[in-house]
Amino acid sequence: MTIEETTYEAPPPAGDEPTDLKVVGADYMLRLAVPEDAAQLFELASDPAVSRFFSWGPYTSIDQPLAYIESLKESRASGRLLEFVIVENATDKIVGVTGLTEFSRRDRRAVVGSWLGHKYWGTGVNLASKSLILSLGFNELGLERISSYSHVRNGRSKAALERIGFVNEGILHSWHRHRGEPQDVNIHCLLRELFMRSEIGAYEVTVTGTVPPPFRPEN
Ligand SMILES: CC(C)(COP(=O)(O)OP(=O)(O)OC[C@H]1O[C@@H](n2cnc3c(N)ncnc32)[C@H](O)[C@@H]1OP(=O)(O)O)[C@@H](O)C(=O)NCCC(=O)NCCS
Repeated sequence: MTIEETTYEAPPPAGDEPTDLKVVGADYMLRLAVPEDAAQLFELASDPAVSRFFSWGPYTSIDQPLAYIESLKESRASGRLLEFVIVENATDKIVGVTGLTEFSRRDRRAVVGSWLGHKYWGTGVNLASKSLILSLGFNELGLERISSYSHVRNGRSKAALERIGFVNEGILHSWHRHRGEPQDVNIHCLLRELFMRSEIGAYEVTVTGTVPPPFRPEN
């Protein structure tokens, strides 16, 4: 990871949010979503398979991804969620979404969540994009622990996390509510030192642009 190009100083004036943060790997990159991305997100997440284990979706109207993209500004400003679109470098196409949430600055931890368009499952995008978001979290944002949830019936998500090196720490009962129904999830954890020694911890990653102030390690 190269960090020289990442700026931490001089927070921008209120209302003038920095939006140039990019996390770039060999085949994919992460960037912040813009309204022009709504059509691509709609196409990917109008497939019920994608959101089957989520509290939202599938998308039925372009207004839904538009509202999601609009909501991300406030989520970043409040430090609640730092979420990116995953873009294929060769085609500039969006293939999914990944991000970090549930930050505890004091404890240096957060939670990663992702979804990919169905046709990208099993293609290696998951490993590549996880290397980007985990590298950002551990190497730029100062995190020591990143966890992830998988729904207890989502065997694919659980296996994908274990393949990366996440350790299954057990079941959190009634942890989420989807459409009024309690949901049990597995809790998985990856510590910084394990990531650094993992296959994807060795991938080349370059971070450019400005980290939004609430997520900077000194805050
Ligand atoms: C979860 C997700 C990001 C994983 O990406 P992916 O490209 O499908 O994952 P991978 O192919 O790298 O890994 C999946 C693994 O599960 C295995 N698998 C597939 N179906 C499975 C099942 N029903 N039970 C157990 N394992 C399964 C695959 O064989 C693969 O293992 P392998 O790499 O050892 O062959 C993607 O499937 C997705 O976007 N799903 C919908 C959204 C979602 O559920 N997100 C997770 C929320 S926490």
